[in-house]
Amino acid sequence: MLAAFSLLLWLAWRFWVFSVCPRLYRNQLEYLPYWIPFLGHAIPFLRNTNDLFARAKKEFGHRLCTLRIAGEDIVLVTTAAQISVIDKDRRTYAFEPFVDLMYDEVAKVSRERKLILWRTPAEGYVSIFPNPKQLSCAHTGIALLHKQFSQPDALRSFMVNSLALVNQTLQWDSFYETSMLRSTSDVKVVSLDSLCRDVIMDAQVASFFGTRLLELEPNLRSILKEWDFESWRVSYKLPWVLTKRATRFRDRLVDVLTHYYSLPAAQRSGSVAFVNEVYDDYKHAGLSDRDTAGIVFTILWGLNSNVTVIAYWMLAHLAGNLTVVDQIREEIAPIMQEIDTHPDIDGASLFEITKNPLLTQCPIFNSTFHETLRYTGTGSSFRKTTRDTTIEGRRIPQGTIVAIPQRVQMMSEEAFGPDPASFDYYRFQRDKSLLRKVEFRGFGGGTTLCSGRIAGRHQVLAFAAILLWRYDLEIIGPDQEVLGVRGKPFPRLDEAKPSLGPGRTREGDDLILKVTQRKL
Ligand code: HEM
Ligand SMILES: *[C@@H]1O[C@H](CO)[C@@H](O)[C@H](O)[C@H]1NC(C)=O
Ligand SMILES: *[C@@H]1O[C@H](CO)[C@@H](O)[C@H](O)[C@H]1NC(C)=O
Ligand SMILES: *[C@@H]1O[C@H](CO)[C@@H](O)[C@H](O)[C@H]1NC(C)=O
Ligand SMILES: *[C@@H]1O[C@H](CO)[C@@H](O)[C@H](O)[C@H]1NC(C)=O
Repeated sequence: MLAAFSLLLWLAWRFWVFSVCPRLYRNQLEYLPYWIPFLGHAIPFLRNTNDLFARAKKEFGHRLCTLRIAGEDIVLVTTAAQISVIDKDRRTYAFEPFVDLMYDEVAKVSRERKLILWRTPAEGYVSIFPNPKQLSCAHTGIALLHKQFSQPDALRSFMVNSLALVNQTLQWDSFYETSMLRSTSDVKVVSLDSLCRDVIMDAQVASFFGTRLLELEPNLRSILKEWDFESWRVSYKLPWVLTKRATRFRDRLVDVLTHYYSLPAAQRSGSVAFVNEVYDDYKHAGLSDRDTAGIVFTILWGLNSNVTVIAYWMLAHLAGNLTVVDQIREEIAPIMQEIDTHPDIDGASLFEITKNPLLTQCPIFNSTFHETLRYTGTGSSFRKTTRDTTIEGRRIPQGTIVAIPQRVQMMSEEAFGPDPASFDYYRFQRDKSLLRKVEFRGFGGGTTLCSGRIAGRHQVLAFAAILLWRYDLEIIGPDQEVLGVRGKPFPRLDEAKPSLGPGRTREGDDLILKVTQRKL
C-alpha cells in the first residue's frame, strides 16, 4: 500500500517536473529528465560527463538544457548565440568562483589568505606594480601571467630557451633514457607519451623557472604527469581515500616550489620575469611562500599538461599516415633546411625561423594541429552567475553554474562539416573559416581564453616539425615486436573523465614507436 502510494507520488513528481512545469513556466529553466530527486544526473555525470552532455544536446537541440547534479543546477550552453552571450557578459557569468575553487582545492590556500588574494585596492591591496585598472591581488597575478605570454619580448625570452632545449634533446644521442623502452645504435623503441612528457616538460620548466627547480626535483616531470592523470579526482572533490594518491604528487611539487622560492633569487636564476614578479607581489600583499608556491603550482601544471597532451595526440594521428607526413615534410622543408645548414644556430634564430613560417607556410601541418584541438577537446568552460539573469527568455538565478561543453560543439556537423567524428587532417585547410567559429573552443574563449595559446601552439608545432623532419616514426602494433618490445593498439581518448581542456588517453594506453634516423 505504502509502496504503491510512493510510486504514485514519484510518478506524479516526474510528470509535474518534466512535463507540466516546462509548459506552465516558459520562463524557467528546463531540466533533462532524471529519476532520482536531488541526486539528479550526478551518477551519469561522474561516470561519463561527455556522454551526458551529448544526450542532453540530442534531446534539447538548440534549447537551453539544465542538469541537476546533487542539488545543484548546471545550465548547458551549446549554441553559438548562447556562447556569445556568456563570452560578452563577463561580469554576470564570472569565472572567479572557479579560480577560487582552484586556490582552495588544488593550491590549498587557507581561507584567510584567500581573503587577501581577492582584496581590491579599495579594500587595502597594494600592488608593487602600477595598477591603473585597480585589479585585486588575484587578478594581478593572472594579468602578470598574461603579460608573460603576450608581450613579444617576454614571450620571446621564454620560447628562445625552450626551443633550443627541444632541439637539443631531440638529437639522436640525447634522447631521454626515460622515453626509451629499448635502443640500439640505429633503432630506438620509444613510448610517445614519455617522449612528449620528457622533452616538452623539461624544456618548458627549465625555461620558465630556470634549471634550479629541476635540480631540486629531477623527477619533476614524472610526478607532474602522475598528478595530471589523477587530478580530476581533486577537482571533483572526491572523498579523501580516492584523492590521496593525487594529493601526494601535488604536495611534493608544492614542497619543491616552496623550497625553490625560499632560495634567494640569485640562487634560482634563469627564470622568466613572471616567476619573481608574482612572488614579490604576493609576498608584499601578505601571502606566505607556501601560498604562492601552491598558486604557482597550478601554473606549472597549466604550462605543461595541455602542450604535452596536444603534441602527443597530434603525433599519434600523424605517425600512422605516411602520406600526410610526407606532405608536411614538404611544407616544413625550407624551414628545417635553413636550420640544418646553420649548425651553429642559436635559440634566438630558431625562434625567428620557426615563428611565422610554421603557421603561414604549412597549411596541412597547421590544419592537423587545429584538427587535433578539435578532435581531442573534451573539456568545458565553467561560469557562475553573479546575479539573476536570463538566456533566451529562461530565468537563471544568481549562483547558478553555466557550462560550455567543448565536445558537443567540436562534434557539431553544423559547425565543422560532415563526419565530425573522424580525424580529418585537411578539415581546417579546406575551410579556414572554421578557426573563427564560436564553436571552436580549442583554446577556450571569453574570460578564459587561453593566455598561453601562442606559446603552446609554437611549442607543439616546433616539437612536431623537428621530430618528423629528423626521424621516421613507425607505429608498433599489439601483434608486433621490435627489439623485444611489444606494441600497443592506438590510444583511446578518455571522454569519460571531466577535464578543462584536451582529453587524456585512457589509463594504460600509449603509442609505441620505432624511431629511426631519416636520411637527409
Ligand atoms: C597547446 C596547448 C594549450 C591548450 C590546448 C590550452 C587550452 C586551454 C583552454 C581550452 C583554456 C580554456 C579553459 C576554460 O575555458 O575554462 C585554457 C585556459 C588557460 N590556459 Fe591554456 N592551453 C594550452 C597552453 C597553455 C600554456 C602554455 C599556458 C601557460 C601557462 C596556459 C595557461 C592557461 C591559463 C592560465 C588559462 C586560463 C585563462 C584564465 O583564467 O585567464 N595554457 N587553455
Ligand atoms: C591518410 O589520410 C588521408 C587523408 O585523410 C586518407 O585519405 C588516407 O587513407 C590515410 N592513409 C592511411 C594509411 O591511413
Ligand atoms: C639544434 O640541433 C642541431 C643538430 O640537429 C645542432 O647542430 C644545433 O646546434 C642545435 N641548435 C640549438 C640552438 O640548440
Ligand atoms: C594557421 O593557423 C593560424 C591560427 O592558429 C591562422 O591564423 C593561419 O591563417 C593559419 N595558416 C594557414 C596557412 O592555414
Ligand atoms: C589546460 O587547459 C585548461 C583549459 O582547457 C586550463 O584551464 C588549464 O589550466 C590547463 N591545464 C590543465 C591541467 O587542465
